[in-house]
Amino acid sequence: MKSQLLNILNQNNEFISGETLSQHLGVSRVAIWKHIQKLQACGYDIHSGPKGYRIVRSPDTPYPWEIPERESRIHYFETAASTMDIARGLARKGCPDFTIVIAETQTSGRGRMDRNWFSPEGGLYFTLVLRPHIPPVMSPLVNFCTAFVLTRTLQEFCGVEARVKWPNDVLIHGRKVSGMLSEMEAADDQVSFVNIGIGINMNNDLPSDLPSATSIKNISGKTCSRKAFLSEFLDRLENRIHQPDMAKVIEEWKSCSATLGQQVRIVSHQGVTKGKAVDVDPNGALLVRTADGTIKKIYYGDCIHASS
Ligand code: BTN
Repeated sequence: MKSQLLNILNQNNEFISGETLSQHLGVSRVAIWKHIQKLQACGYDIHSGPKGYRIVRSPDTPYPWEIPERESRIHYFETAASTMDIARGLARKGCPDFTIVIAETQTSGRGRMDRNWFSPEGGLYFTLVLRPHIPPVMSPLVNFCTAFVLTRTLQEFCGVEARVKWPNDVLIHGRKVSGMLSEMEAADDQVSFVNIGIGINMNNDLPSDLPSATSIKNISGKTCSRKAFLSEFLDRLENRIHQPDMAKVIEEWKSCSATLGQQVRIVSHQGVTKGKAVDVDPNGALLVRTADGTIKKIYYGDCIHASS
């Protein structure tokens, strides 16, 4: 109902009467008035007067009804501890493919390698529940594909020079603008779900003691619509992810890599590897040429570019 009501209001610059709205939507004028009140409470600036209702401004909030075709699969929270925990619960209960859990802010946002993810207002924080029909060994495909699609969408939709740092951080001019965290569960040698948590510093500012990070707003000097961005990214990802061609995904990922050719230091629970990042193999492992000329295959870790 909210999306249909907003649709009509957004198409009319003039006041539109409660009577007309109730006829279009097949509900009473009182019901229309109640929906208008709810929308106003959600931050929509809707003027009401003797001639009816007129929308003046919509908040840039990714409410489920802002993406009507996905509304039933979007779970929106003003605040959550971590969208990862909610998404895991939903996935285990059998929620559909492409379920999305969004939070305006997180109180215990989680990052890779047991770090916290700072999640203030203005950023975009969500976890996607994906159910690809692939064996667990192919699950990196989902991460690389998502990282590629996210980087391209940032480039083309926000007009920023985004590049991807192995495996899936997005950088602009060497500073981190987005990170991804994934969790997978499998049964009978098939992936049950891969949950991909994405944090994007979109319209938020960052503390000055975090010089290695930036936001889209800080880089471009203007805000980017979070709800329009999310809708665009989800459409692009859904179109791309159902073609499980790992070699092609890795080629696409390489086309926007910030890591290849760089001197890197990879820190993992197993230790530190230093050298030049020369390639990414078809499974997503980073190939690093160390000082003695040997090529090491790195499957997991934190990648630090020497130039940063
Ligand atoms: C990283 O770069 O360390 C990964 C950061 C992932 C952050 C996102 S924000 C949405 C989702 N919920 C979380 O708690 N973490 C991920």
